[in-house]
Amino acid sequence: MDKIVIRGGNPLLGTVRISGAKNAALPCMAAALLTDEPVILENIPQVRDIETTRKLLAAMGAEVELGYGRAHHRTTICARTLAAPEASYELVKTMRASTLVLGPLVARCGRARVSLPGGCAIGARPIDLHIKGLEHLGAKITQEHGYVEATTDPQKGGRLKGAEIVFDKITVTGTEDLLMAATLADGETVMQNCAREPEVADLAALLNAMGAKIHGAGTSTIRIKGVDKLHGARHRIIPDRIEAGTFIIAAALTGGDLNVAGCDPAHLTAILQKLAENGVKTAVKADSVRVMGDHPLAAADMNTEEYPGFPTDMQAQYMALATQAAGTSIVTENIFENRFMHAQELVRMGANIKIEGRRAIVRGGTPLSAAAVLASDLRASASLVLAALVADGETIIDRVYHLDRGYENIEEKLKGVGAEIRRVGNIFPKRAAAPAQS
Ligand code: EPZ
Repeated sequence: MDKIVIRGGNPLLGTVRISGAKNAALPCMAAALLTDEPVILENIPQVRDIETTRKLLAAMGAEVELGYGRAHHRTTICARTLAAPEASYELVKTMRASTLVLGPLVARCGRARVSLPGGCAIGARPIDLHIKGLEHLGAKITQEHGYVEATTDPQKGGRLKGAEIVFDKITVTGTEDLLMAATLADGETVMQNCAREPEVADLAALLNAMGAKIHGAGTSTIRIKGVDKLHGARHRIIPDRIEAGTFIIAAALTGGDLNVAGCDPAHLTAILQKLAENGVKTAVKADSVRVMGDHPLAAADMNTEEYPGFPTDMQAQYMALATQAAGTSIVTENIFENRFMHAQELVRMGANIKIEGRRAIVRGGTPLSAAAVLASDLRASASLVLAALVADGETIIDRVYHLDRGYENIEEKLKGVGAEIRRVGNIFPKRAAAPAQS
């Protein structure tokens, strides 16, 4: 199992280029199921979740080409025929976002069989709102043997029917799943209390390029006029705002001077506003953020909120910064019920963090020392990388497959701006086999 080893103390200097957004690419790949024509997606990040989605679509019978040449990171998906509109437990258990195929499959094929995602390190993360929304659109839903089976009603011509949907809670993939399903429904669908994340708007841009009729994506009310058929399209995925935020914090933490290029600062407003409270100096241009990190960091309380608020996917990274800021920061996680697993690993490196329910009280200004630490989920592992960049000594981070799910070539990118980082296999040589019993 791969590990990453980081020797702390180097300021990050130079330019790092941001990859395409994993959380935009995943729904856009699922959207290709809605047509029998080729969909070409550019700026796809080379991360594990994309490979998992390729396998998922191919298993259904879609043709999926995926290439990461110098010139392009592109996938071409053609779901001409879908022999098996299913998402197996083997794949869904490795990536819960597989449930994004539920809506497109029901809309395109009239049936879908998708494994329930089960638990997750950061919380229960049910998909009840996805299911309720599909029922509003006329799908018949059964749940057994760990799978959700959804079918359209032959009495209604085998199509979903436009409806009014109000989400009980704001859900990103729930909004995306139902947005995709509604594009082929008979009649108009109005969805309220929708997620407003940029990834939702990016998905809608692709769907409209495919011939859908969507208005209001990116706001809390989205109107979709169903059409009979969608056609192929070419679309460029937006930059990854969470990767950008992660590198911005890395530059601030290491006291560097880093140009975070190829990002969209308009997606970073809450992050940049909070970091300004922490005393982080930045210069923002149309597609880049320069971080001048040679300023002392100050504590600031932070609450995670749905977009446009401070993103929960940046909470762990922010906590790493708070451990080095002068003063006490109270970090409140309002989205997921168990998203503080990185805290105990940071404490093992010398941080002073006390968890009280949804709040973490971080007493900053504590020097960090290198340790062997364990990644528990994608963003927790990013938090440990950030801590290791400023810890005294060599930190070993295990289970970095979590990191590989959402960060493209992170060690090359960090090495390219001065970090002392390397990836190794099993560090501790295997123990010699015990001598055969005499
Ligand atoms: C998306 O997950 C992201 N994943 C997550 O990013 C992100 O943390 C999350 O949105 C919140 O921003 C992708 O886009 C692939 P939700 P999602 O549905 O859609 C509850 C990462 O690190 N809920 O918005 O699964 C849920 O339990 C990942 O890249 C229900 O109760 O999150 C949570 O408390 C981690 N019932 C809240 O809503 C439902 O049917 C928000 O979850 C759905 C959600």
